[in-house]
Amino acid sequence: MQKIVIAIDGYSGCGKSSTAKSVAKRLGYTYIDSGAMYRAATLYFLDNKVDIEVKADVLKHLDVLDITFKLNPHTQEQETYLNGNNVEQEIRTMRVSEYVSEVSKLKEVRQELVSQQQKMGKDKGVVMDGRDIGTVVFPQAELKIFMTADLQIRAARRQRELEAKGVEVAIEKIIQNLSERDEIDSSRKESPLLKANDAVEIDTSHLEFEDQVNRIVVLAQEKI
Ligand code: C5P
Repeated sequence: MQKIVIAIDGYSGCGKSSTAKSVAKRLGYTYIDSGAMYRAATLYFLDNKVDIEVKADVLKHLDVLDITFKLNPHTQEQETYLNGNNVEQEIRTMRVSEYVSEVSKLKEVRQELVSQQQKMGKDKGVVMDGRDIGTVVFPQAELKIFMTADLQIRAARRQRELEAKGVEVAIEKIIQNLSERDEIDSSRKESPLLKANDAVEIDTSHLEFEDQVNRIVVLAQEKI
């Protein structure tokens, strides 16, 4: 059977990652969380106090950044590793969420991570989610999805996810973070968040999770 690339882009907190993960499982594809890569780079810059205004410093540190994904054998969930350390929990904290869009604006960072993402998807059979997957990383992707959802609904979902991990964050703080990231991601010069012309838009505000997964699986099966 022919394997394809599925690109899922959209605003922060639309459920792209959980949807992409579930679609990948249904199709027997590999799921790649490109946002986790920007988050891991951000964590590294924060921990190593890299001044992101100094291009030479950013480039020097990018050279030693090793971001990989490994399956946790107990949970069967993919986890993010930075230079050999499991950073899956740390990259989801508000400390990283509040800075990640600033780091993601940098051309040097994007060039490096986009090239790694293209290598990861070169044999197809991948579902990758992010902001520029259908426009920049895989402009030839066979299936492109653009996910949207009402901001209040996205924030409430994100709050439940954090609560499930034992993290309490006020809804106002989540709303502020999601809308700030959307604004920076959509207005930046380098690869802004855009709906590709050939992307199928799915508004998940009032969709059940399984319905949004089914819609994408059906669209994928038409291409395979
Ligand atoms: O997907 P997630 O919300 O974890 O992504 C975190 C941040 O990483 C986004 O707000 C955006 O700034 C950046 N990002 C990006 N391009 C991608 C994926 C994520 O700029 N392909």
